Amino acid sequence: MLCLGNICRSPIAEGVLKYKVKKAGLNWIVESAGTNSYHLGEPPHELSQKISLLHGIDISKQEARRFVKEDFLIFDKIYAMADDVIIDMKEIAQECWIDNKVELLLNVLEPSANKNVPDPWYGPEQGYHDVFELIEKACEKIVENNL
Ligand code: 4NP
Repeated sequence: MLCLGNICRSPIAEGVLKYKVKKAGLNWIVESAGTNSYHLGEPPHELSQKISLLHGIDISKQEARRFVKEDFLIFDKIYAMADDVIIDMKEIAQECWIDNKVELLLNVLEPSANKNVPDPWYGPEQGYHDVFELIEKACEKIVENNL
């Protein structure tokens, strides 16, 4: 699960997908990362933590890390929160880029619609609720359909 800072959107996505994967009895490895390094080692944004916890998901132990090209060797699928994340990923991944491993997260709900999970970083709390709802629906579909 990838976003820019790995503190707002992708930590929620990691928490939600891990929760659903565990509930479904699957043994997938789920991680999140960001394409920039502004918040390395930091816990998720307090509102990402708060909203996740309201849904019974504790993401407080996560630490922001930067996406590295080797992630393409480890993971079968990389879900990006937005198209600007994919642009950054390409720059980092270089020769390790594998096109069919990368998908915009919301395309699992509406294939080829190419919608972004909006960045809640600059806005009020409601943005985090909206983001959680979108991510939750997408993660449900990923587990349901084994995407
Ligand atoms: P995220 O949100 O990509 O959902 O973690 C952001 C957090 C921080 C910044 C940008 C986006 N930033 O520029 O510091």
